[in-house]
Amino acid sequence: MARAALIAGNWKMNGLAASLSEIEAVASGLSARPNAPEALICPPATLLERAVASAQGTGLAIGGQDCHADASGAHTGDVSAEMLRDAGATAVIAGHSERRAAYAESDAAVRAKIAGAWRAGLTAVLCVGETLEQRESGMASEVVAAQLDASLPASVDPARLEIAYEPVWAIGTGKSAASADIANMHAHLRSCLRARADGKDAASVRLLYGGSVKPATVAEIVSLGDVDGALVGGASLKATDFLAMLDAVAALGHA
Ligand code: PGA
Repeated sequence: MARAALIAGNWKMNGLAASLSEIEAVASGLSARPNAPEALICPPATLLERAVASAQGTGLAIGGQDCHADASGAHTGDVSAEMLRDAGATAVIAGHSERRAAYAESDAAVRAKIAGAWRAGLTAVLCVGETLEQRESGMASEVVAAQLDASLPASVDPARLEIAYEPVWAIGTGKSAASADIANMHAHLRSCLRARADGKDAASVRLLYGGSVKPATVAEIVSLGDVDGALVGGASLKATDFLAMLDAVAALGHA
């Protein structure tokens, strides 16, 4: 496979200073695993700088979970992509379904955030995914394609883009989409990327799956066609689980 595998962890609103020991354990575990896939952990903003320091020189990348579209300004409580970069982050998640739902983030808002991420030199991890109602009504492919199209800036920087397909109903529920559905959606996303004006770069964008991925399930998921890695919430909080996922994916020989 031309695309190196990536296991990305999204800590969400979890983690205090004591949790930095988990980052340290992943970082040192990664150093001892030359064949491991690429690894990214997105801790809460309060831990970013310390997480970057813990990961220094180990190959573990540290990212933010969200950013404002603007570089600076009167936006109380927000953090810009430039600030994430300044703290040592190299990536940022954009359009996670929890933010789309809780803050009514539109595709246009997500698109502006991705443009902000690229302006600051960060990789954007764009999340798309259908609700259970949309899947049950047979609309999943259309919903996800429309989200992808409307959330991406017109000119895509393929070197700084990962796309995570995360069915909303599979996040934090212990339910995973069926392998055939994951493979079909990822093939669909790849063909949507190909159909865009800058489709020549579609082959180099990594497509991740997310939603209740665990050490026991990650290998089967990442071995599916057009699945290049995983975006993991709950199972990314413990270094032992995260390293077990890296090992399971390394054993596939993709990295
Ligand atoms: P989960 O979260 O692995 O806990 O389901 C995934 C995500 O929200 O990115």
